[in-house]
Amino acid sequence: MIDRREYARRRRRVVESLDDTCIVIVPTAPVMLRNRDVEYPFRPDSDFYYLTGFAESEAVAVMIPGREQGEYLLFCRERDSRRDLWTGRCVGLEDAVSKFGADDAFPVSDLDDILPGLMEGRSKVYYPIGKYADFDYRVLNWANRLRRQRRGRYSQGSAEIVALDHILHDMRLYKSAAELRTIRHAVDASVAGHKRAMAASRPGLHEYQLEAEVLHEFARHGCRWAAYPSIVAGGVNGCVMHYTDNGALLNDGDLVLLDAGAEYQFYAGDVTRTFPVNGRFSPVQRAIYELVLSAQQAAIDVIRPGNDCNAPHRAAVAVIAAGLADLGVIPGPARTAGERSDYQHFYMPSTGHWLGLDVHDVGDYKVEGAWRAFEPGMVTTVEPGVYIPPDATQVAPRWRGIAVRIEDDVAVTRHGREVLSAALPKAVNAVEALSGASDHDEAG
Ligand code: GLY
Ligand code: MN
Ligand code: MN
Repeated sequence: MIDRREYARRRRRVVESLDDTCIVIVPTAPVMLRNRDVEYPFRPDSDFYYLTGFAESEAVAVMIPGREQGEYLLFCRERDSRRDLWTGRCVGLEDAVSKFGADDAFPVSDLDDILPGLMEGRSKVYYPIGKYADFDYRVLNWANRLRRQRRGRYSQGSAEIVALDHILHDMRLYKSAAELRTIRHAVDASVAGHKRAMAASRPGLHEYQLEAEVLHEFARHGCRWAAYPSIVAGGVNGCVMHYTDNGALLNDGDLVLLDAGAEYQFYAGDVTRTFPVNGRFSPVQRAIYELVLSAQQAAIDVIRPGNDCNAPHRAAVAVIAAGLADLGVIPGPARTAGERSDYQHFYMPSTGHWLGLDVHDVGDYKVEGAWRAFEPGMVTTVEPGVYIPPDATQVAPRWRGIAVRIEDDVAVTRHGREVLSAALPKAVNAVEALSGASDHDEAG
């Protein structure tokens, strides 16, 4: 649980880094309709939540540096006993102040009346333009209304609308101790989900049945939602990078690539394991699996403060390219395979991304054109893979249709790294022991 003082510190840092003639407006995400009378489960906007800790829909945070009557205003839903009967109790204005640290709180229904007045005389409006079209429209309307009111008076010029991303996203890249604890919980729940799915695996199940095992464990850990739609890809489906159908039968002799992460208090886990549906790797599957595993270890080994954040990708590519050449999947010589493009047919994505409130978390990877250095508090995934499509006629048939990804979540520490998902087995023997375990038991 992240303490309300931490949210206050974040807001303070944002305000202190801006000039005091500005106003900051950060709306939460809109409620989305799924179909008639049914909404998608609401998920707050990550930037908004990072600054407020406020998880209800229909809310807008406003920060006004130097305002005497209070710098932090929260617009949210008012308590309404009749509506509470239908949708449950909302936070309301009083608790927005007493529990969420707002200097003042107003009904979100009054936004159109109050906001233009607050914008008056401010030279800059920090606002995430382009994110939510309906809210963009309202902000532009407020700005236009102000311009019309000023006509005929001494004109101060219109306020400039500026993105807040740069400051906020750099802050979000460095995780606090409380954030790390929260991510750790999301990762622990993810690990438990993977273990349960591995143990349940057997030929004849459908992909969605393994997904059900994963989601069961997430919920048991207090994570009602996955951080992203789970990928449960049997056999050749693993070659489809964003496969989420999860509807196919799991066949004897195939691998299953399972990429699933729990979301805990809006922080994401992001973990992938690839295991044999029946609990035993075939020799070719095992060769590719061990290659990806050694590439992943090489990538993890170079995560430490001071190393650049593309070092894991370079390390993984070197191992995968040389290994694919050794196996005869791509042309040799192995020594220089990383310098040629052949490996790219089978390893397209990059090796990792920042992890946090968003699964592909914010934060620049390059600063002034150069890869940025790892620093303590950053959290990254490490997820090399080899994906050999079934129609890759340039390789011998035995390799075709094999897809392997291994993904762990890694926190950069003061002197090195910590693999947060280390409790989930990935060595060949350990994976075999766990996956298809029920079948082994039955076989005696
Ligand atoms: N699960 C999304 C990713 O691995 O990037
Ligand atoms: Mn993933
Ligand atoms: Mn990932």
